[in-house]
Amino acid sequence: MKSLMYLLLLVGSWQVAAADMLPDQSLIQRGQAIATAADCGACHRDSAKNGAPFAGGYAINSPMGPIIASNITPSEQFGIGGYTERQFADALRKGRAADGHFLYPAMPYTAFQGMTDDDVHALYLYFMYGVKPVDRAPAAKTHLSFPFNIRQLMWGWNLLYLHHRSIQRPEALSEKLQRGRYLVDVLGHCSTCHTPRNILMAEDQSRYLSGGLPGGWYAPNITPDPSGLADWSQSDIVTYLKTGHVAGKGQAAGPMGEAVEQSFRYLPDDDLHAIAAWIRQIPAIPGRQAKSGIRPPVEDINRIIKGQGDQASLADSSSTDGAALYSNACASCHGRQGMGTADSFYPSLTRNSAVSAASPGNVVMAVVNGVHRRGSDAEVFMPAFASQMNDAQIAAVSGYIRLHFAGIDTPLTAADVHMLRSGGEPPFLLRYLYWLIAGGVIVLLLVISGLLSLRRR
Ligand code: HEC
Ligand code: HEC
Ligand code: HEC
Repeated sequence: MKSLMYLLLLVGSWQVAAADMLPDQSLIQRGQAIATAADCGACHRDSAKNGAPFAGGYAINSPMGPIIASNITPSEQFGIGGYTERQFADALRKGRAADGHFLYPAMPYTAFQGMTDDDVHALYLYFMYGVKPVDRAPAAKTHLSFPFNIRQLMWGWNLLYLHHRSIQRPEALSEKLQRGRYLVDVLGHCSTCHTPRNILMAEDQSRYLSGGLPGGWYAPNITPDPSGLADWSQSDIVTYLKTGHVAGKGQAAGPMGEAVEQSFRYLPDDDLHAIAAWIRQIPAIPGRQAKSGIRPPVEDINRIIKGQGDQASLADSSSTDGAALYSNACASCHGRQGMGTADSFYPSLTRNSAVSAASPGNVVMAVVNGVHRRGSDAEVFMPAFASQMNDAQIAAVSGYIRLHFAGIDTPLTAADVHMLRSGGEPPFLLRYLYWLIAGGVIVLLLVISGLLSLRRR
């Protein structure tokens, strides 16, 4: 009898010990909320539709080529199950994997470097105990061409750019602004899309949030400049982040649509207000891609747009008549005059930041890929026209709505559409890469021969 009691006591204390080892459930939940705010799942998703969360394989388009997101489930062999918390922190904040290899900045460690120790800790517990392990490697591997396949190059890049924006804690900032800044700069990594990049493809901090070009899309100027969000109220910004649209202003398609669907719509209202408060008081910077918004007189439009409503071109499936394409493919939802529906479910194109942006990127990319987004209010859908229209037709209809509804008279060609669809204009570094390498080799040879001749003397 006595020994049985001992046994029970022993089992009881073992259970207590086991419960001690399992981390606090509330910490795991906090980690999950941080993972949502940081949108880890958007990039680390499975390339297969409805695949397991965080299983990796999704390709992030970079100007250097596709970069495949890793499996970050706690699988020992294929994921990050073997990561210590220290190694996990280094991946997030320094861009170094557990085995020491350099990560490409497609993983936004330049933003996550500002993450607090408490947040890293909660995030680590969530990934170790709150995520199901997936024991399979992502279907694809990252293969960049020379010299970008040399990951050690990131050492130099990190030296130049990783410590440029450590998050100071200016005492003067209110708690709300500090929170807003943390959400914008660190967790939400808004800057990775909305800040233009310099010739080495690092964010140009002197033009913070004044408009970037992620993969063919245009992430507009979100500073309080007239070319940015000057006319957006605090609640406009909150509504946009929550639902993905603000009637008469804009809507979130492409990468922003994904961020709304997977991340921002789940943030607590206080956090959304903190984000809005922060970006409404940052310095106003005129975007290089200024908004137009000026509409030419209607007679001019009619003079410029030929063949409007021409029945013959409507019937011709190879037509590149923008007006005909518009009334065929778009007017049923956006209205003949581009006014959309009264409830704005099908948005107006005449008062629309995507159409009036100086960059045609979002119009073209929305026509190519369509729009499909779940916000906190509704699910919106616009079909993709990639398989129904060729590049010339997409150029024609995009050019038509930009001219007709926003007064922007810049010609758009099939070649422009092709370039946008394949990720946008290549950055300086890529365009001149081989000249730069050749120049570097010549300089090196000159230095070596100079040194040799010195030695001979
Ligand atoms: C914008 C896309 C993006 C977001 C957001 C993102 N990651 Fe990543 N992450 C990547 C890519 C791409 C890689 C692989 C980079 C490479 O191969 O160089 C990566 C690599 C990693 C690695 C290294 C794994 C390994 O061993 O290869 C870890 C750990 C990681 N991410 C964790 C996270 C966590 C945690 C979050 C959220 C806080 C997050 N990532 C958010 C794109 C992203
Ligand atoms: C993955 C890239 C990406 C990230 C991260 C991102 N954005 Fe965006 N954002 C975009 C793109 C692209 C658009 C244009 C969407 C469209 O018009 O379809 C956009 C549009 C917007 C707009 C509407 C601007 C307008 O004039 O219509 C606001 C406001 C905005 N983003 C705020 C934010 C904030 C705040 C964050 C961080 C909390 C953020 N974004 C993070 C890519 C991104
Ligand atoms: C079935 C209805 C439907 C059709 C047809 C349609 N659209 Fe749309 N369109 C939508 C919806 C819905 C949205 C997104 C609304 C939202 O986000 O709230 C949208 C958004 C847009 C946007 C904004 C994209 C952005 O990046 O913010 C543009 C530009 C646009 N449509 C142009 C077109 C053009 C051009 C055509 C014809 C080739 C077309 N649409 C056909 C329903 C439609």
